[in-house]
Amino acid sequence: MLTAQELRDKYLNFFKKHGHAIISSASLIPENDPSVLFTTAGMHPLVPYLLGQKHAGGKKLANVQKCIRTGDIDEVGDTSHNTFFEMCGNWSLGDYFKKEAISLSYQFLTAKEYLGLDVNKLAFTVFKGDDKVPFDDEAYRAWLDLGISEKRIAKLDRKDNWWELGSLNTPAGPDSEMFYWTGTNPVPEVFNPEDKNWVEIWNDVFMEYKKTEHTYVELEQKNIDTGLGLERVLAVVNGLDDVYRTELLWPLIEIIELASNKSYDNYTREMRIIADHIRASVFIMGDHKGVSPSNTDQGYVLRRLIRRALGLKSRLEIEDNNLLPNLAKKTIEIYKDTYLELSSNQNFILEELKKEEEKFEKTLVVGEKKIEQIKGEIDGATAFNLFQSFGYPVEMTKEIAKEKGIKLSKDFNKEYLVALEKHQELSRTASAGKFKGGLSGDDKETVRLHTAAHLLLAALRQVLGDHVEQKGSNITTERLRFDFSHGEKMTEDQKQEVEQLVNEAIAQDLPVTCREVSLEQARAEKAMGVFASKYGEMVKVYSVGQKENYFSKEICGGPHVERTGELGKFKIKKEESSSAGVRRIKAILE
Ligand code: ALA
Repeated sequence: MLTAQELRDKYLNFFKKHGHAIISSASLIPENDPSVLFTTAGMHPLVPYLLGQKHAGGKKLANVQKCIRTGDIDEVGDTSHNTFFEMCGNWSLGDYFKKEAISLSYQFLTAKEYLGLDVNKLAFTVFKGDDKVPFDDEAYRAWLDLGISEKRIAKLDRKDNWWELGSLNTPAGPDSEMFYWTGTNPVPEVFNPEDKNWVEIWNDVFMEYKKTEHTYVELEQKNIDTGLGLERVLAVVNGLDDVYRTELLWPLIEIIELASNKSYDNYTREMRIIADHIRASVFIMGDHKGVSPSNTDQGYVLRRLIRRALGLKSRLEIEDNNLLPNLAKKTIEIYKDTYLELSSNQNFILEELKKEEEKFEKTLVVGEKKIEQIKGEIDGATAFNLFQSFGYPVEMTKEIAKEKGIKLSKDFNKEYLVALEKHQELSRTASAGKFKGGLSGDDKETVRLHTAAHLLLAALRQVLGDHVEQKGSNITTERLRFDFSHGEKMTEDQKQEVEQLVNEAIAQDLPVTCREVSLEQARAEKAMGVFASKYGEMVKVYSVGQKENYFSKEICGGPHVERTGELGKFKIKKEESSSAGVRRIKAILE
């Protein structure tokens, strides 16, 4: 039996032996990247280095990175998909390329002292090429040179063999995936990637391009980025065809079996989802940038995970209110030596889980009644409304609808997404450059904090100097988080001075006005502009204060309060480092 820790160690030792510096796992919440909510792959925190910046560890790196992926969430419940997972990765930043990367992967998978997997149970894919990028002959040949039969190498298109992130100006490229046969029947001679018995365990990405608006530009620095799924490999190496049977998840299943007095064999999907979602929730809350359940951004995902688990808990007729805390405690125990942040945040995790369960119980009854009142068919917008107004998760709406014989509308998923996106547009902060205005009463708090962010930036520049620029912000109904460029910790005096300036601006009840001007005009007026590249030709400029004597002037999509007097008292709760040269303030309005 290979343990998870042995697998992590084997991986890191192998790459260390091959000249890689071992780096630690980054936070699950990406630094300075408003385009995604979670770290979805080991390469994510390394984007600047893949684009050419020098890394302190050198040109060859490896680590085990904690990741969250919600894109595959509908597949969670099968044998191999997880919301949270660990990704073992190795990187070459302009050092070795395809041939060596493939050879390293092959050695690790097959060598006796490493994983010792049977070559006959392995199969591979390479990018077959299209009108933008040619067939990846180099990767194909590298596998052939290792003695792999062409029958075991599938040439697939962009959908399967191309890796890129959602945002522009990020590294991209073709990839080559490795599969392992988990079937009980003999391994077929010819590899058919559609056959579910072949499980993807590792992906080597050849990051030789940069994704731009219209095309892919060749990078000067050709990189390797790989990702090996720890849970999946742990399963297959131990002869298991189900990641929930590994030591990382099975103890959670056992707790659920005991609490429900039902067996995993009969309630496989439900139990898997509960275990998966609570483990992911523990990691999201336990991250050093811990998140609480809420209705926006990461907090929204977290809320959905917890509520879905709670919904399934009630389907399994589990009444014990200790189920979630017990699962959380077990998760922390399983990972306590690898992710130390979990134990140190244990109280926070347990408290938040408890609060969310209490809140949910209240809404459950109302939501269920609402669904029962629906006649005939339910559409996605209604389902979103049920979530938004009563906290009723869409997955449960679907399940209850099925039970009660209520049909889902034809475009249910699309309608749900449209409603969700509309909501997120409205409740996101200006940092994502998407704030469109027209908020409902519930979002009033975020608008006030948004105006406070403008006052804060202006005050910081007055106190610390003109080098201060906004680096990011995140607003929930409770607090403002604001990142800005500044090299050192702020002193108590500086913090007080900033607070005082903001509170004076509030006390003066200054008007907040908005004008639409050209970008040039805005620059000429010295309006502060964040994320300049995202602006169109005409921009909105929000000024706080009188025309000739304004307190703050910023390019921004809005919306804002009409007068600063609406803000109340501004208070800085925390000032800390966010990343190199960037400080972070957490502030509230009392
Ligand atoms: N970034 C690649 C992946 O996540 C390795 O599959």
